[in-house]
Amino acid sequence: MKVHTGLMSNHWDEVYDTRPIDAVSWYELEPVVSLELGEALGVTSDDAVLDVGAGASLYVDHLLRRGYHDLTVLDVSASAVQTLLARVACPLVRAVVSDVTSWESSRTFDVWHDREVLHFISPERRALYFATLRRALSAHGAVIIGVFAPDGPTTCSGLSVTRYDAEGIMELLGDEFDLVEERRTVHVTPWGAPQSFQWVAARRGRQASSLSLLRPPGD
Ligand SMILES: C[S@@+](CC[C@H](N)C(=O)[O-])C[C@H]1O[C@@H](n2cnc3c(N)ncnc32)[C@H](O)[C@@H]1O
Repeated sequence: MKVHTGLMSNHWDEVYDTRPIDAVSWYELEPVVSLELGEALGVTSDDAVLDVGAGASLYVDHLLRRGYHDLTVLDVSASAVQTLLARVACPLVRAVVSDVTSWESSRTFDVWHDREVLHFISPERRALYFATLRRALSAHGAVIIGVFAPDGPTTCSGLSVTRYDAEGIMELLGDEFDLVEERRTVHVTPWGAPQSFQWVAARRGRQASSLSLLRPPGD
C-alpha cells in the first residue's frame, strides 16, 4: 500500500523509511501526557479515538492495553501507517492515509488526539484543519492537542512550525469548546534535547449543555 498525497507525504515517507521509530525527535515510549489528559477529560475505553498524524507512535498500543476497541490512526505518510499497523497487528485499529486538511471523515469520533501535527499546518491551511476537526468530532467530543510552545523549537524534521500557547489553541477551536486542562511540559528527544510543549484538553458542547440546564423550558 503506497498512497502518495503529494510533496508533504514524500517528505514524511522518507523520514519513516530511513529512520527507526525510536530515532526521531518526537519518539516517546510512554505517552504519559496524552493518557493523563484523556483521564482528565473523562475519556473511557468505549470512546472512539482518532489519533491525527499518529505516525508510528505507541499511543494506540497503550490504548489497546487499556481495553480501547475503536481506534483510528490517520497520517499523511503511508510508510508510517504501515509500520504502525504491522507492529500492532490488531483489527481494532483502523488506518487512514490522508492529509488532515483535506480529509472527509465518513463517521465521527469521541476523541481527537493530535501530538505534534497542528504546528506543521501552515496558517493558510489552518482553517481546513479545524474544519476537519469539527466535522469528525462528535457533539460532546474531547480534544487533546500537544504542540510546540512559544519557547519551543522553531523547526522540526527540517520543516518550520507555528508555536502556540493554550489561549491560541482555544481561540482556534472556538467558543463551542471548553478548556478542561492545559499543561506546559518538556519532551526530551532521544539525543537529550529538551523541547517545550503546550497541551490543551478541551471538550465540545459542555458549556452549551450546562447553560441549557439553567434555562427554563421553552426559553
Ligand atoms: C512529529 S510527527 C508526530 C507523530 C506522532 N503524533 C507522535 O506523537 O509520535 C508528525 C506526524 O504528522 C504527520 N503529518 C504531518 N502533516 C500532516 C498532515 N497535513 N496530515 C496528516 N498527517 C500529517 C507526519 O507524517 C508525522 O507522522
